[in-house]
Formats: sequence, structure tokens, C-alpha cells
Amino acid sequence: MIPRVFLASNSPAFSRLVYGTWRFLDDPATAHSDDLLKRLHACLELGITTLDTAEIYGLYRVEEFIGQTLKKEPGLREKFEIVTKSGIYVPCDFHPDRKVAHYNATAARIVKSAEKSLRLLGTDYLDLLLVHRPDWLTSADETAEGLNRLLKEGKIRSAGVSNYNVHQFDLLNSRMDQPLVTNQIEFSLLHMDPIYDGTADQSQKLGFKPMAWSPLAKGALMSPENPAGARLQKKAAELSAKYGGATLDQLAYAWILAHPSQPLPIIGTNKIERLIATAQAMDIQLEREDWYGLWEAAQGQSIP
Ligand SMILES: NC(=O)c1ccc[n+]([C@@H]2O[C@H](COP(=O)([O-])OP(=O)(O)OC[C@H]3O[C@@H](n4cnc5c(N)ncnc54)[C@H](OP(=O)(O)O)[C@@H]3O)[C@@H](O)[C@H]2O)c1
Repeated sequence: MIPRVFLASNSPAFSRLVYGTWRFLDDPATAHSDDLLKRLHACLELGITTLDTAEIYGLYRVEEFIGQTLKKEPGLREKFEIVTKSGIYVPCDFHPDRKVAHYNATAARIVKSAEKSLRLLGTDYLDLLLVHRPDWLTSADETAEGLNRLLKEGKIRSAGVSNYNVHQFDLLNSRMDQPLVTNQIEFSLLHMDPIYDGTADQSQKLGFKPMAWSPLAKGALMSPENPAGARLQKKAAELSAKYGGATLDQLAYAWILAHPSQPLPIIGTNKIERLIATAQAMDIQLEREDWYGLWEAAQGQSIP
């Protein structure tokens, strides 16, 4: 079973592997409640109990899809922790009034969005609400006011951010009534910024775990047409037998899981067999030289 972890001392428990919902409406073959219910039950059997969504996913349609699906089985919502995000507003059919894509992390907008998420998801609490991206036009006091109000009212059980740099995180954190519990950041063998830009170090310093989005680089990591992907395929073939026949995607998850900041990778597949394969990656303990060997294959060069 996938272990349960606390993102921070003031957070609820989440599953170490999280199921991402960004692509839920992308493929007509799987974009219906019957298929999603099968995947949700597969997740529960594996111990993957945390769902990561956002107001904007599916151009503002995924939250409602999740809510309608959870409603089909009484008690199903309580078996999951729901993470959602607010703050990105783009022109689309739903909102013809919007002309320019923009961020909005004002208190009023955060509260309004969270209340909409609660309604669409069919729940009266969110386990975690994240500000999806830093809004350059809103003060930290203003953003914190919205998050603090939602925490106080019990509408959200914890608050965090996504795609914040270390300074933006520190600033908002300094205005919170209780500490932010995570920074959800892009992290994979093809996107290693967090180990250089300080975000992974900040999480260790402050004692919270980051969440890692696009752990397979949106699928690019698995593409032999991508030069780094091709080098990684070769390296994975070399390592596979040593790690019980592990495949590149499993080794890529193990690579993220091994980082000392203890990230929670967010799985992006619509396929049950890939959920199962990912869960198996939890058992892989990469040896030091193999972790660096995957780094080397991804970079196409040895360490400096
Ligand atoms: N906070 C943010 O700003 C942010 C941004 C992006 C994403 N996210 C979160 O992160 C989650 C995961 O992101 P992601 O979907 O980009 O994850 P990902 O795992 O990097 O990419 C998923 C894509 O890779 C494909 N894939 C998975 N396993 C594969 C394999 N073994 N071989 C070939 N292709 C494979 C999937 O297709 P199949 O469906 O066919 O398996 C899917 O198209 C999202 O759902 C969302 O919750 C957050």
C-alpha cells in the first residue's frame, strides 16, 4: 500500500503518490464517469487516496466532472483527499467576457473560487487549496487574507501554493496565520530546476514536502524522439534487471521519490495499468550511483 504522509506538521495526511486530474477530459474514451470510477477504485486498492485538481483544468470543467462522479457512490468523497487550485483565468467558451489570460489571487477571488470548487466537487471541505501561480499584481497580505479566511471558516483544511519561487513562498508564508503546507512544482528527470533554484532546499529548511507535477515531463520523458528520453531509455535498459525489471517510467518516479525533500509525485495517466506500475515504483530504492547515472543520462553529461 502507498504510505500516507503529512505535507507539514499542520497538514492533513495525504497519500505519497497523488492522482492528477488535469487530463481527465482529454481522451473521449476515458472522459466519462464509468471509466473514472474504475480508476478511482483502482487508486483506493493501491492506497492512492489523494486527488489533485484545479479550477482551470479541462477549461473549468474537470472539477464538475469529478464532483458528478464522486456523487455516484455515497461515501466515496470521504475516501479521498482533494487538493485543488485557484487563480488562473483564461478566455474560453464558459467566460466570453474574459479577453486576456491573467492571474488573480486577491482575497475576494480566492474565496469565490474555493466556494465554487466546493459546489462543483460536491463537498463542504477541501483538504488543501493551492494558489495555482503567483499573481504579480496582488500583495501577499491580500492573498493571505483570502487563505486565512477559508482556513478559519473550515472550508479548507490546509493552504499552499504552486509554482512559487523561494522569495514568493517566504513572503506569503510570513503573512499566514498557519504555515503554507506545500509548494507544488514541476520536477522530473527532464525538469530539474527545483534541485538548483532553491525550492527543494526551502522545503527541507521549513519542514514541508513539495508536490511534483508532470513527473514524466508530460510524457516527453517516454518519447524516443526526445534526445534525453532516448538516452534515458538506454540507461533504464541497463538498470532494469537490477531493479526487478523496472521500466523507465518506474525509474523516473523512483528518481523523484529518492530526493531528500520527499516530494509527492502527481501521476498523470488515464490508464489503470499505468497507475499500478507507478505504485510499484514506490518499492524501488535507487543506489546513489544509479540516481546520478539517471541524472547523467538526462543531462547528456557527467556532473560538473
Ligand atoms: N501545479 C501546476 O501548475 C501543474 C501543472 C501541470 C500538471 N499538474 C498536475 O500534475 C499532474 C500530472 O501531470 P502530467 O499529466 O503532465 O504528468 P506526466 O506523468 O508527466 O505526463 C502524463 C502524460 O504522459 C503519458 N504517459 C504516462 N505514462 C506513460 C508511459 N509509460 N509511456 C508513455 N506515455 C506515458 C500519459 O498518457 P496516458 O494517459 O496514455 O498514460 C499522459 O499523456 C496533472 O494531472 C496535474 O494534477 C500541475
